[in-house]
Amino acid sequence: MIWGLLLLAAGLAAAAPVTYSEHIAPILFERCAECHHPGAAAPFALLTYEDARKHAAQIAAVTARRYMPPWPPSPGVGDFVGNRSLTDAQIAMLAQWARDGAPLGDASKAPRPPRYTAGWQSGEPDLILKIDQGFVLPASGPDVFRNFVAPVTIQQSRFVRGFELRPGNRRVVHHANVIVDRGRTLRVRDGQDGRPGFEGMDISVESGNGFDPDSHFLLYKTGTPDAPLPEDMAWRIDPGTDLIVNMHMQPTGKPEKVDAEIGLYFTDQPQRRQPMLLQLENDGAIDIPPGSAATSVTDHLTLPVDVDLLAVYPHAHYLGKRVEAWAEMPGGGETPLLRVEDWDINWQASYTFRSPVRLPAGTRVVMRIGYDNRAANPRNPNRPPKRVRSGNRSADEMGHFWLQVLPAAGESGAPDPRLRLQEALMRRRLEKYPGDFEATFNLGGALDALGQREESIRLLEAAVRIKPKAAVARNTLAGALIDAGRLNEAIEHLRMAVGAEPEHADSRLNLARTLLEAGDARGAATEYLVYLRMRPDDADARMQLAGLYADERDFAAAAMHFERAAKVRPDDADLQTNLGTALSLSGDLAGAAVAFESALQLNPGHDVARSNLEQVRARLKKP
Ligand code: HEC
Repeated sequence: MIWGLLLLAAGLAAAAPVTYSEHIAPILFERCAECHHPGAAAPFALLTYEDARKHAAQIAAVTARRYMPPWPPSPGVGDFVGNRSLTDAQIAMLAQWARDGAPLGDASKAPRPPRYTAGWQSGEPDLILKIDQGFVLPASGPDVFRNFVAPVTIQQSRFVRGFELRPGNRRVVHHANVIVDRGRTLRVRDGQDGRPGFEGMDISVESGNGFDPDSHFLLYKTGTPDAPLPEDMAWRIDPGTDLIVNMHMQPTGKPEKVDAEIGLYFTDQPQRRQPMLLQLENDGAIDIPPGSAATSVTDHLTLPVDVDLLAVYPHAHYLGKRVEAWAEMPGGGETPLLRVEDWDINWQASYTFRSPVRLPAGTRVVMRIGYDNRAANPRNPNRPPKRVRSGNRSADEMGHFWLQVLPAAGESGAPDPRLRLQEALMRRRLEKYPGDFEATFNLGGALDALGQREESIRLLEAAVRIKPKAAVARNTLAGALIDAGRLNEAIEHLRMAVGAEPEHADSRLNLARTLLEAGDARGAATEYLVYLRMRPDDADARMQLAGLYADERDFAAAAMHFERAAKVRPDDADLQTNLGTALSLSGDLAGAAVAFESALQLNPGHDVARSNLEQVRARLKKP
C-alpha cells in the first residue's frame, strides 16, 4: 500500500514536470514581483528566469515557512483585498521546482513579466508636497521615528481622491503614516530639538472645535495592498491644514538625507459618503513584565448605529505577538474580523474587506493584543527584557485596532451618525480613563452637536476645570453657552481663552462676534482687529469690521477694510457696492465710481450700484 502511494506520486511528478515557464513565472509575477522589481522594497528582482533560478532554493525555503510573500492575516479570517498569500499547492510547486533543479521548460510559454513605472504610480499628482527639510538620518543606531510637518499649499478647499507617498530612498523610509492636522496644533513642536521635525512613534492631534473626524488610513507601508478610494468617499482638505508625516526610518550604514514626497490627487466630486475611523486601544493598561509571553490587553466598543466595516488597521510595536479582533453580534454569534498569529511591525498594513462587513447597532467589537516580552522573542528591543509600559518610543509598546466604518444612512433629519459613534467612543474612553481631558471635552462637543445641551455644558465645564488654560475647551463651552442664551458667561470664558492663548484665532473670532451680539460694538471691533492680524484673509470677519467702522461713521477705515475683503473676494458685487458707498461717504468720489462700476460689471442688474453710480457721476460733474 505504502509502495503504491509513493509510486503514484512519482508517476504524477514524472507526468507533469514543474517548469519556470509554465508554473513558476505566473506565481512570481502575481505574488512577488510587486516588491521584487528594481526600485521596489525587496533586495532583488524576480522578473526573469535567471533571477528566479539563482534564488530557487531560498524561494522554496521562505515560501514553505510562509515568510514570503508577507501576508500576516491568518487564512480564513476576513476576506481582504489584495490577499497575496500562496495556496498549499503553489508552495508545493515552488518546492518541487527547486528540488528538480529549477528547469526553464518551454520559454515560449512563459507569461510576459509585469512592467512597473518608476514615477508616481497613479500619474502626475495635482499637488506635490516635498518632505525635504534637511533632516539627515545617522549612518547607524536604532530605528528613528520622526514626524515632519508638510503645510498644504492650497488656496481653497479641495477633495482628495487619492494619496501617494514616494519615500525617496526606500531603504531609509520603511513606512510612514500621514495625519491630517486641521488646526495646525503640532507644528509648534517642529525643530524644538534643533533638527527638522520632531520625535515620536505615535502621535495624535487634539481636535479643535468643529467635528471633522478622520475618514481614511493614509499609510505608506510596503505590506499594504492598493485599495483605491471610491470616488464619492474623497476627503476634504482646507487651506491652513498641515499634513504630519510620521516616518519609520532605518539606518543604512551611511548618513542619508530624507527626501520623501507626498502626492495628492483631487476631484471635483464632493464627499457623499463619510466613513469614520474608530480606534480601539487600551494603552493605559499595558504593563508587560520581563519574561512574560502571557500578557494581553483588550478593548471593546458597542456600536450605537448600523455600520459597514470597510477596513481595519492593527498596530503594535516590537513585542506584539497575537493580534485579533472580532464582532459579537447583537443576535448572538461572533464574526472574526482579523487574526495575526505572529505580529511583525515591519509588515504592518491596513486591510480592506473585499465586501464590507455589516455590523448592526448593538454589535460589540472586541480587540485583544498579546505580547511576548521574553528574550527568546528575536524582535524584543530590550536586552535583557525589561518591564514595558505604553509609550511613544520604539522600546515602549502600543496596542491599537482601528476600524474604518461607513455608518448606514440614517433617516433624513436624524443627526449625523458619526456623532453617535463619537459619543460611544468617548463614553468608552471615560470608562477607561476617568477624568481624561480629551474624552470629557470631545464627549461634551459631540453632545452639544447632538443637541443634548445640559449634559454637554456640564462636561465642557468639567473639561475647563481639567485644563483651565486650554482655549479650545473654553471656546467650545462658550459655543454651548451661546446656544443656551448665556452670553455673559460665554464672553467671560472667551476672554479667559484668549488670555491663556492669545493666538487662538477661533476664540478671538467668537469673542468678537459675541461682543457684537451683546451690543459692545467697540469691544467687538478691537477683537476683530486682533483676529484679522492672525487670519488676514477672512473676508467675512473683515466685512463685519468694516460695517462696525461704518456705523461709527469712520468711512475711510470702513472703505479700507471693504477693499481688503474685496481682494479676497473679487467677484462679490455687494461687496464692491459697499466699498463704493464707504468711499463716496469718505469723500473719494472717483474711487467710489470705480467700485460701483466693478459691481455693475459683476452684476449688471445691481440696482443699488447703478443708482449710486449715477449719483456719484452727477456729483463728479459739478464744479
Ligand atoms: C510586500 C512586498 C514583498 C512581496 C509581495 C514579496 N517579497 Fe520577498 N522580500 C521582501 C522584502 C522587503 C525582503 C527583504 C527583507 C526581508 O527579508 O524581510 C524580501 C526578501 C525575500 C527573500 C530573501 C529572504 C532572506 O531570507 O533573505 C526571498 C527569497 C523572497 N523575498 C522571496 C519572495 C517570494 C518568492 C515572493 C512571492 C512568492 C516574495 N518574496 C514576495 C518583500 C516582498
